[in-house]
Amino acid sequence: MAKGKHYLNKILKISEKYLKQTFSSGRLEEFLNTIQCIYNLQDTNEIIKTFGDEYIRFVKEDYQTIYQGTDKKLNKFIDDKETDIKIIWEDAYKVLQGVRSESIHCMVTSPPYYNARDYSIWKNLDDYLRDMKKIIQEAYRVLDNHRVFIFNVGDIFDNDNLTTTSVWGKRRLPLGAYFIKLFEEVGFTFVDDFIWDKGEVQTQRHKNKPYSFYQYPINSYEHILVFHKHRLDDTRYPCPVCGTLKVNGNTQSEIGIRSWECKNDDCFTRSKNNRGKRFSLKTIMTQAHQTPENEIPFDFIKKWRKDIISFSPVIKINSKGKNILGHTAPFPEDIPEYAIRMFSYKGEKILDPFAGSFTSAIVAKKLGRIGMGIELNKTRFRDAIIKNIKNKFSGSSINYKIGEFNYHGTKK
Ligand SMILES: C[S@@+](CC[C@H](N)C(=O)[O-])C[C@H]1O[C@@H](n2cnc3c(N)ncnc32)[C@H](O)[C@@H]1O
Repeated sequence: MAKGKHYLNKILKISEKYLKQTFSSGRLEEFLNTIQCIYNLQDTNEIIKTFGDEYIRFVKEDYQTIYQGTDKKLNKFIDDKETDIKIIWEDAYKVLQGVRSESIHCMVTSPPYYNARDYSIWKNLDDYLRDMKKIIQEAYRVLDNHRVFIFNVGDIFDNDNLTTTSVWGKRRLPLGAYFIKLFEEVGFTFVDDFIWDKGEVQTQRHKNKPYSFYQYPINSYEHILVFHKHRLDDTRYPCPVCGTLKVNGNTQSEIGIRSWECKNDDCFTRSKNNRGKRFSLKTIMTQAHQTPENEIPFDFIKKWRKDIISFSPVIKINSKGKNILGHTAPFPEDIPEYAIRMFSYKGEKILDPFAGSFTSAIVAKKLGRIGMGIELNKTRFRDAIIKNIKNKFSGSSINYKIGEFNYHGTKK
């Protein structure tokens, strides 16, 4: 008997009762048909990995069917292998509502900072935060489990337009703090806050009479907030060492992360104290990706080792005062580069829901990922965005193909 057949039969025998608990009978049949290909494999590790990967894929597909709002055309565009920089024109909330659950590997963005730019439209701070919360809630649903959303935002000076509307009412609005609360309310775990020191920035705020009560610092920092998604998933997952589902629930290693311990006496690994392999869906994911192509350069890790970090903002105004980028508020490549290198792997899908000049998608492509962005203002920014993407790749040997999706044909 071929090795593949022998070892797969062993996994199935030990796991039979648990497979029946996880899948409906129809799905189990489908699963057993799909894993037939494993019978051709010889290498035990490959057999265990393929069985585990297929099992995880089936569990995910089942979970994805729970949400009914998925838009087929949109997801076909997202999955299309022909294009690797994907532009979706529409309101982020509307688009996210159509995206399959847990199908995006990493999110990174910088939202509109309330009414700091002329394209912003909110009557007051509460309206703004309400709109943002709806988008963050959908983002939580579409982000894959145990993945990360990096959110860059500044604490700007403005009126909240709730109690104060006059120019004198301008004060620091702690958007960073407000967003942390919103993210937590929809289920994210707040993990880190980098203070980005932007250096000397253009502002008049400190130019005042030399007397008490007139002194304010210039606003030279922004937040780079790190949020993790850990949706508690009680599904039993196979031991990554022996592949069987004979595992027992262990304590939660982190809030929202279900851990397991292998109870198969024939498993290939046991601890010094004779305990079986302990693992979670998160460790299966992180350990499977520890390959040379996913190694983060040492200098990059060093750059981000402290939670106060300095790098320059994007210079968009030339010496004649003209905006040379055509977009008002791009963030520097450092921010998406941090998100993508630290929290995703080669080939994965990166989404920026407020894509602006598509910095995140460009950096994603440069780092071997699929870059996607949603942008509301097509009429205003399209030419600048396409030009920006082309400029960023000019002179590079990277082949890229841009795809555009008009949500239900909307032209904005
Ligand atoms: C701060 S900028 C993003 C900058 C971006 N990180 C870059 O590097 O260019 C915010 C962008 O979000 C867009 N926007 C605002 N509301 C939106 C919405 N509801 N859906 C999609 N995009 C939106 C704005 O047009 C603007 O381009």
